[in-house]
Parts: sequence; C-alpha cells; structure tokens
Amino acid sequence: MPHPNPTPRQIHSSGPLRGRVAVPGDKSISHRALMFSALAVGESRVEGLLEGEDVLATAAALRAMGAEIERGADGIWRIHGVGVGGLLQPQGALEMGNSGTSTRLLMGLIASHAITAAFTGDASLTKRPMGRVIEPLSRMGASFTSYPGGRLPLILRGTNPAIPIDYTLPVASAQVKSAVLLAGLNTPGITRVIEPIATRDHSERMLRGFGATVEVENSPAGRIIAITGEAELKPQRIVVPGDPSSAAFLVVAATIVPGSDVIVENVGLNPTRAGIFTALRMMGADITELNPREVGGEPVADLRVRHAQLKAIEVPAELAPSMIDEYPILFVAAAFAEGRTVARGAHELRVKESDRIAAMAAALGACGVETQEYEDGLAVQGNGGEAIAGGGTVATQLDHRIAMSMAVAGLYTRAPLTLDDAAPIATSYPIFFESLDKLRGTNAMQPA
Ligand code: S3P
Repeated sequence: MPHPNPTPRQIHSSGPLRGRVAVPGDKSISHRALMFSALAVGESRVEGLLEGEDVLATAAALRAMGAEIERGADGIWRIHGVGVGGLLQPQGALEMGNSGTSTRLLMGLIASHAITAAFTGDASLTKRPMGRVIEPLSRMGASFTSYPGGRLPLILRGTNPAIPIDYTLPVASAQVKSAVLLAGLNTPGITRVIEPIATRDHSERMLRGFGATVEVENSPAGRIIAITGEAELKPQRIVVPGDPSSAAFLVVAATIVPGSDVIVENVGLNPTRAGIFTALRMMGADITELNPREVGGEPVADLRVRHAQLKAIEVPAELAPSMIDEYPILFVAAAFAEGRTVARGAHELRVKESDRIAAMAAALGACGVETQEYEDGLAVQGNGGEAIAGGGTVATQLDHRIAMSMAVAGLYTRAPLTLDDAAPIATSYPIFFESLDKLRGTNAMQPA
C-alpha cells in the first residue's frame, strides 16, 4: 500500500525518558465535536481539537455540506451549524483520506438527509468493510452503490423522512453504533441501538450535552441506547480531553526504557477507553494517576509512569472493546516482558487501518521478536526486559498505530530500526516525534 509521499524514519535507542508532556486532543471526541456542532443552530466553540488529518477530513466534509468551520488565531475552533436536517448537497466527492471514523459517522449523518454523497479514501480505507454501516442504514431507507464487498468508493443516497429502527450490533463497534444514532437524530420517532458489549460512549455523552434526548438502559440483551429523532441541538463550548490512545505510546515508552520517569498530562480516562492501562498494570507497569478531574464531561488525569519490569499475561478478552486501538502498543510492551503474552478475542484488529495482527507479527519479527498469529489475536514472546534486536525495516502499511508502536519499540533496541513510512502518524498525532523528543531531551528520530 504505497503512500503518496512516504517518509522513512530511522529510530535510535534512547536513554531514560524524563519530564512532562501533554497529549493532543482525543480523536474520537474531536470528530464528534465537529459533527454535532455542525448540526446545532448557532456558534459552537471547541478548544483542544485534535488537528490531525483524520479530523481535518471530517471538517472539510462538513464544510462541503454547509457548516462554517474556522480555526481562530487563539487555537479555538468556531463552528456555525446548519441545524439537524439542514445538511446541504455536497458538490464534489467527500475525500475521507485514512479515516474510518469520518466515513462511518458521516454516512450515518447523511443517511437521513435527502442528499447524495460520494465517499472516497486512501489505499487503506478503500480496503475496509463498510457493509456494517450500509446494512442498518439501508434498513432506515438510505440506498448505496459501493465497490464490491461493501468498500469505498461508494455513493450514498439519503432519505427523508428515514425510518426509525431497533438495531442490535453484530460487531462491537462504536462507529456502527454512532452511525445509527446519528441517522436517528433526523429520523421521526425513536431509534434504538442494542450493544451486547459496551463500546466507547462519547456519542451518547456528547449528544446529551447538545440537548438531544438519549436514554441508556442496561438489559440482559446489553446496553440499549434510544435517541429521540428530529432533535434540536443547541450550540456548546467544548473542551476536548487528551487522547488515551495517543498517551498509551508514551506510557509504554516510559515503561520499557530503563531509568524513565515521566508525567503524561491530560489523559482521558473514560472507562470505555482505558483498558490499556488496566492491562499494563496487570503486567506490572508503574502508573499513578495524579490530579484527577473532569474535562468536557470526561474523566481526565495526569499519569506518572516509571520504568518497570513487566510480566507476561493473558490479556482478558473482556478488555478488547476498551483497548481495541491499543493492541499494537500492548504487543510492544509484551516484547519487553518476562514470558509469553497471549491476546485473543480481538478479531476486529484484522479490519483496522491495516490488518494489525499480521502487521505487528511482521513488524516485531523484523526486529527479532518471536510471535505467533491466531485468527483473533497474537502471542508475543518477551525477552525479560532486555533491549530487543532491532535492525529491521518495519512496513507501517498506512497505519499510524503500527508506525508509532514500532517507533516506541525502537527506543530500546541493540540496532536502530527503520520505519518505511512515518507519514501516517499525522492522521492522529502530528506532534508525536516532538513529544518523544521532549521526553528524551535529544532529537534521536532521524530521517533515514
Ligand atoms: C472509533 C471506534 C473504533 C476505533 C476507532 C475510533 C470511534 O472503531 O477503533 O479508532 O471514534 O467511534 P470501531 O467502531 O470499528 O471499533
């Protein structure tokens, strides 16, 4: 999967990481803040928005459908929404780049508007399954013409009024849940999503904050989320908390490099997202929460992380939904643990920005780490906390999380490793290398 401008990068081993660094805004929350603001009547303000390529793709699509979205010189984003039901016909294809969240959530938003939209994306996104949103949105009355296998590029013809549905999620996916709820926003009556396994709940929390009626009930069948349609959203001031998925790279970096002691500031700790910290603590990581507080309706803390000797675990499959994006960095932590870590029950990893089971098996293998692939997971043989061999070239496969995970692995190797392309990191954490350099006090990430 070639990138239009591949940026190879060599990663050199590091001395202890020290100091403090704040992680950028949460990607999931940033997408939602823009989308809901674009549907409110009046001006919303968003502080701490993640200015990564994925979120900028959402902003561009919303502008193409009538919302006014500007970044002020003060770094605060101001959004003038069109009102629920007010999205306009876009004049060109919506270019989604690498972003599955933009694509699936916007498909939901558009499905209950009488407009037509074409979606396209990069070589990673066009391989990812969209049938999981096409299916429920078709039941609500939208129609689709997609590439074979329910892939992008696709054309969506929305409908108004759409039909409210009760929909049980066949896969644990916050994107599918959110797509149906967002379609439900402009659908008469009550649209319900039943999730047998709870996934990240940012849509529910934030929609309520914007004034929509969203009721959540726990039942034997799972969480039932009911949204009352034809809602009116009121403009909000939103502060986006830091992204736990981004923080996880720095937390593992400090854990594996001997002598490290860092504070990662502003880490969102919503329980539907914080599974990685539970798993790392089970392995023996030394993570302390400082200054717990609430930001934008989400629990947040600063994390003090000191180097620790990790032990292998069997990663509980129940943690999968709350750490689904963190398996690649968990596999890196496992490479430095004592013993063999086994993670199963994470089949969804096969359909992320890359096939993350195969991509991490290959990446770690290129650096001398033994792994065993399962259909639904990976086993990683740890080396007891010594530096790994390194020396190899890692194929990052248009996947930001493979690139950042292996950049972290590269901090403690016997020979420098090379990322074939570090450019995908800009989708979610454009200042990743600056953050790492700040903690290591040198510029050790050299272009190859
Ligand atoms: C996301 C949901 C998850 C996650 C993705 C962001 C969201 O995807 O992997 O990075 O913001 O709703 P799935 O819904 O496919 O699990």
